[in-house]
Amino acid sequence: MSFLRSRFVQAVLVLVLAFVILRFGIRPPAPWSVLTLYMAIIFMAVLIFVSSDRDSWRDFISPIWSTLVRPERRVLRTVLVIVLPLLMGYYAYTQAAARPQAPPELRAVHPAPPASIQLKGKEFNISGAENPLRKDAARLKEHAAKGGEIYIRNCVYCHGDNLDGKGHFAPGFNPPPANFQDPGTIAMLQEAYLFWRIAKGGPGLPKESTPWNSVMPAWEDRLSEEQIWQVIIYLYEATGQQPRRWEAGEHGGH
Ligand code: HEC
Repeated sequence: MSFLRSRFVQAVLVLVLAFVILRFGIRPPAPWSVLTLYMAIIFMAVLIFVSSDRDSWRDFISPIWSTLVRPERRVLRTVLVIVLPLLMGYYAYTQAAARPQAPPELRAVHPAPPASIQLKGKEFNISGAENPLRKDAARLKEHAAKGGEIYIRNCVYCHGDNLDGKGHFAPGFNPPPANFQDPGTIAMLQEAYLFWRIAKGGPGLPKESTPWNSVMPAWEDRLSEEQIWQVIIYLYEATGQQPRRWEAGEHGGH
């Protein structure tokens, strides 16, 4: 084991051992940045150790020196001169090369609605708005029936005849048409929210929900205000869901 007495071998051993311990011996594993920091400190400590006196330094330097100048080390030297730059180059490449990455798709499924929207030139307050058709309980059935007609004419081919988002066109769309039977859609939304979504559709979604290639059409020019409220009543009647109510304090004044 005479080679163990060589300062160079000792230095390399200490570095390799320290690396193995820090990399694999610690739980939880240290982050890479901490590891490089520790390794730099250990490397400096090793340099101080091998250069603590002249003999030790000469001992440390001699294998490096002989590899660089001795004729009989020529083969090793040539190999190192080729392999080391290649390794460095490979390392630099792995650091700089762009990695293939799936684009992040963080769309807000139910973005906050604007407080008010422009509807046919007039201001419509969403915050706190109730379905006006619910005031007249006697005509609710009639409104639901009208809403059903509107739904069959305009919505069924995307949202499906079971209101489950499985209309004929649905397989072609991403995001898929909303499934109103799912408790995660209209059951947790206020009617005013639906009003906004039906009136303004995919184009009316706020910036924060991009990338959002929703095909949900804007119906403001095709359906009257009353028709939109009617189709909303139909959606809740047909699915048996209850709209979420405005909680006290959620809006001003109502
Ligand atoms: C061309 C296909 C298409 C048609 C037609 C369509 N929708 Fe949509 N709708 C969608 C898609 C896709 C979504 C999901 C993406 C989104 O929220 O914009 C959606 C979402 C919705 C939402 C939002 C639900 C939620 O949970 O946020 C409502 C409400 C809605 N549609 C109602 C209607 C009504 C009412 C009609 C008919 C007047 C209609 N849609 C017609 C495609 C359509």
